[in-house]
Amino acid sequence: MDLQQKRQLNATRFLKEFFALSLPGLAGMLLAHAAKTVFLTDHGDQILENCLKNVQLNSGVLNHQKVVYVRELDWTHPWPPKVSSDLATQERFSWSSSELEEVQKASLLLAADVIYSDDLTDALFGILERIMSQGSEKVLYLALEKRYNFSLDDLDVVANGYLNFRSYLKDDSECEGLELGSLPCFMGKCIDVAEIPQYVGGYDRGDDVELWEIRYSKGKL
Ligand SMILES: C[S@@+](CC[C@H](N)C(=O)[O-])C[C@H]1O[C@@H](n2cnc3c(N)ncnc32)[C@H](O)[C@@H]1O
Repeated sequence: MDLQQKRQLNATRFLKEFFALSLPGLAGMLLAHAAKTVFLTDHGDQILENCLKNVQLNSGVLNHQKVVYVRELDWTHPWPPKVSSDLATQERFSWSSSELEEVQKASLLLAADVIYSDDLTDALFGILERIMSQGSEKVLYLALEKRYNFSLDDLDVVANGYLNFRSYLKDDSECEGLELGSLPCFMGKCIDVAEIPQYVGGYDRGDDVELWEIRYSKGKL
C-alpha cells in the first residue's frame, strides 16, 4: 500500500454510491468506523428505505449509525440538489446544506455495478464531474462486471455501456499531455484485481470483473 492509499484509508469522510442490500453498501458501513461521515446514495424511496433498513439491521454490530446517512442522489437530476431551509419540511432522504458541504469535503467515492447502459453512464459521469470538480480532491473506486447482450444498434453481442464508460477515461499521461493539459478530464487506472486477495468465497470473479481508480483533473482553463 503506498502513502497515498494509506492517506485515503485514513480519510475522514467518505461519499459512498450504495445500492440496497449489496456488498458495496456493507463495505461503506464498515468504512464508517474510520470515516467522519458516510453517505449511502441511490434513487427512489423504496430502494432508499431498503438502504436504511440495512443500516439499521447492521447498527448493533457495526455501532456507527450516527455517521451514516441515506440520501437520494439521482444521476439524472442536477447537482447540487435544492435544499429545504426548513428542517420540519425536509423530506426523509433529501440533503441539508451542511451535508452538501460535507460532500464537498469528501475524499473517497465508491460505486459498483453501475455501468450497463450508455444513457445512465452519461448521467453518472455528468454528476461525477459536478461532485469531483468541487471541494477536496476525490478518488472514485468503481467496480464493474461487463454485461454482454445482443445489441440491435450494433447487430452484435456487446458489453452494454462499457465502451461509453471507457470513452470518458484517459490515462495520466494523456490527461497531462500538451493538448489535453488545459481541459478537464477523468484519469482512469485499471487495478489488477488478481493482486487483491479474495476474502469472500462462493463466487468467481471471472475475466469480466474490473476495478477502476478514477480521479478528476480540473484542467487549466
Ligand atoms: C445493477 S444495480 C447495482 C447494485 C449494487 N451496487 C450492487 O453492486 O449490487 C444498479 C443500481 O443503480 C441504481 N441507479 C439506476 N439509475 C440510477 C439513477 N438515475 N440515479 C442513481 N442511481 C441509479 C439502481 O437503483 C441500482 O441500485
